[in-house]
Amino acid sequence: MIEKEINIQFKEYLGITSLEEDDRLLILEARKAIEGSYSPYSKFKVGSAIRIETGEIILGANQENIAYPSGLCAERVVLFYAGTKTDNVESIAIACQNEKGEWVESYPCGACLQVMLETEKRANKKLRIIVQISSEHFNIFEGVNSLLPFGFSF
Ligand code: THU
Repeated sequence: MIEKEINIQFKEYLGITSLEEDDRLLILEARKAIEGSYSPYSKFKVGSAIRIETGEIILGANQENIAYPSGLCAERVVLFYAGTKTDNVESIAIACQNEKGEWVESYPCGACLQVMLETEKRANKKLRIIVQISSEHFNIFEGVNSLLPFGFSF
């Protein structure tokens, strides 16, 4: 038996002004995208913003349904919509808000990460994932591999 270890690398930014301008704008758009959240059941709002190669920004938010599994996460809403326009997605930013309207930490779920892997495959490059941890704390992952090292593939 060989015991193995995986190291995850990411960049932590403290203070929104410490982000590069493009990333700061994308996070601000993800925050705005929260307005499009339809989440009467969980009352948990997720906003996502994607930058494609032309610089265009596309927004999405979680959409729920009374038949719970029929809803969809913000990330997949925006990733699938972006996929109707281009193969060249560069970055995705995610911001979450709880019932009290507070910004809270939340990472993309496993299903969304698997879809992000496909996005990388289509773009033939790493996807940058910008996660808002709190209003002044952001983590940036350069590639899905950091969050999903063993994604499904065949
Ligand atoms: N949600 C997302 O939008 N993204 C995730 O990665 C995980 C969860 C949504 C789904 C549901 O509307 C709410 O958050 C609570 O699970």
